[in-house]
Amino acid sequence: MSQLSRFVLVAVLAAVATALVLALAANVSERQEEAKTSNFNVVALTEATVNPAEWGKNFPRQYDSYLRTADRYSTRFGGAGSEAMPISRLEDDPRLVEIFAGYAFAIDFNQRQGHAHMLEDQRATKRVTERPQPGACLHCHASTTVPYRQAGLKQGATGTMDDPVQSAAGREQLMKGFEAVGKLSYDEATKLVEHPVACIDCHDPKGMGLRVTKPGFLVGIAALARSEEPTPHLPSIERWRKGDRKRDYEPNTDASRQELRSMVCGQCHVEYYCGPKMTLTYPWSRGLKVEQIEATWNETKFSDGHRFYDWKHEKTGAEVLKAQHPEFEMWSQGIHARSGVSCSDCHMPYVREGAMKVSSHHVRSPLLDVTRSCQTCHRFPEAELLGRVAIIQERTHVLMGRAEDALVQLIKAVETAKKNGATEDKLAPALELQRQAQFRLDFVNAENSMGFHAPQEAARILAEAIDYSRQGELALTRPAP
Ligand code: HEC
Ligand code: HEC
Ligand code: HEC
Ligand code: HEC
Ligand code: HEC
Repeated sequence: MSQLSRFVLVAVLAAVATALVLALAANVSERQEEAKTSNFNVVALTEATVNPAEWGKNFPRQYDSYLRTADRYSTRFGGAGSEAMPISRLEDDPRLVEIFAGYAFAIDFNQRQGHAHMLEDQRATKRVTERPQPGACLHCHASTTVPYRQAGLKQGATGTMDDPVQSAAGREQLMKGFEAVGKLSYDEATKLVEHPVACIDCHDPKGMGLRVTKPGFLVGIAALARSEEPTPHLPSIERWRKGDRKRDYEPNTDASRQELRSMVCGQCHVEYYCGPKMTLTYPWSRGLKVEQIEATWNETKFSDGHRFYDWKHEKTGAEVLKAQHPEFEMWSQGIHARSGVSCSDCHMPYVREGAMKVSSHHVRSPLLDVTRSCQTCHRFPEAELLGRVAIIQERTHVLMGRAEDALVQLIKAVETAKKNGATEDKLAPALELQRQAQFRLDFVNAENSMGFHAPQEAARILAEAIDYSRQGELALTRPAP
């Protein structure tokens, strides 16, 4: 190559390189511009803006993914299937009809589906249309923050809707409204709400910081803080305990952002009592483990002095407990919580859009997006991670089947003993063991990860369930003392 052509080549290459650098710079500044303008300040959001579509004008990306919770999907154990109606848990497993005999869950019990459906599904379930239910049911199935406050103001709470929920006046409005709406009949209360869980239930309209607004959670977590139970996965509670304890633990000021990324979900994905006999209660005053929750229910009395129970079993007469979706409690016992991994890390992973990192508000099974939900931390191929989950879930499923068989056999044994004229004294120990076995089995069955959130804890609980059912059968065969 001649000197000249070499010179020309170098010049051309330099020009190309310069052009590339300039193009890249332009692209970067375009993206930075995009990042700056991705939150459009179109609407002035206030403490009274319930409608998520209004928030969506300022935050279109989060709103778009939020709307996608309407989509149906199914994994081996998650989702609700793709048919017109969610899969029935009762048709899937007829043993549950026996186990829930005499309770509303025996007439209608489906797989959960996405957040967009929570209000319509509750309004449609036979548990609501065929049984009287309290307004408190709406606490976790609707955007209640504004309706509660409005009801609280009507009850004479101080301040106005301009007060932030976190202020003293805002809190008073919220709590008064929660009490009042909870006592209404479901039909009356449901007229007060319009949307499923909405932006305002998890976000401060000024600045978009995370916050918790559900009264059941605020009261429950404060009670947990006052208990003796260690909470290494929630360090802000341990910090509060070292203080003077003059005021309650307050997640909105005490908790870290990472803790709030789980607490916003713990507002609803928890065990609770919601019925005609008491205010909606989260049973955490001794801790979050199954036997601590059981002990809390055992020491709870209704206003008529009777020991707490959810329903009387139709076939045996045992006063039994129904567990409800204890995701927050089970997650609390697992290695992920212990390692500081929040619900949102797996269920609301970051999605890159241009230069933006946006939290996916399409809350769903993480198994549908292993790349973003798991591989940010685990350097294993997708198939390997899915395989690890499958092993945990399959083991839990098989053990749970055994626990169900054992409980059904105890129920049958009590029925036979009754037919053969067994006295109440003779039956009493077996019925108490049914209560213990039932609550443990249900704690794992109603929890929606099929063991994944805390595999060893799930196995421990199921082993106890099997043992209590078999002890119950033995108690019936033991001769009278
Ligand atoms: C380490 C990741 C991880 C964390 C942390 C986590 N989950 Fe999960 N979760 C999963 C996996 C995996 C499943 C199983 C999904 C399936 O079977 O399709 C699941 C299942 C669920 C389901 C049922 C989903 C469905 O598709 O039906 C719910 C509800 C849920 N989790 C809520 C929570 C809540 C609430 C928290 C926090 C208190 C939490 N999860 C923490 C990974 C996680
Ligand atoms: C206001 C109460 C509430 C809050 C807050 C809430 N959930 Fe839910 N969640 C529900 C209800 C109710 C359903 C079931 C809806 C149905 O079946 O119609 C549900 C369903 C789900 C499902 C199943 C989705 C599907 O398509 O099958 C997952 C996963 C889930 N929630 C995870 C979370 C996570 C993670 C958080 C926190 C970021 C959270 N939820 C916050 C009440 C709530
Ligand atoms: C503490 C929060 C909370 C309260 C209170 C609550 N739910 Fe739910 N509900 C949930 C969550 C979370 C799910 C999704 C997880 C699941 O289905 O296990 C759900 C799922 C459901 C579903 C869909 C799945 C199914 O079971 O068929 C129905 C229907 C439902 N609830 C009805 C009710 C009724 C009726 C009440 C009042 C007695 C009520 N809920 C009170 C949190 C709550
Ligand atoms: C169940 C609770 C929940 C609801 C409901 C919810 N978000 Fe979020 N949102 C979160 C969580 C968790 C994050 C992550 C925050 C963090 O890490 O600081 C988040 C983050 C955000 C962010 C910060 C940027 C980002 O993407 O991380 C914006 C903006 C946002 N949400 C907008 C909305 C809008 C708009 C709605 C209603 C359409 C909404 N959110 C509904 C829980 C919720
Ligand atoms: C933010 C980081 C993070 C994310 C996201 C995450 N993990 Fe983990 N995972 C951990 C840590 C930390 C451990 C504890 C073991 C360790 O220290 O390596 C762990 C442990 C596990 C274990 C062993 C469980 C046990 O009980 O021994 C499995 C299985 C697992 N993860 C699967 C998953 C799957 C599947 C996902 C996605 C749905 C996921 N992880 C998401 C950090 C994470």
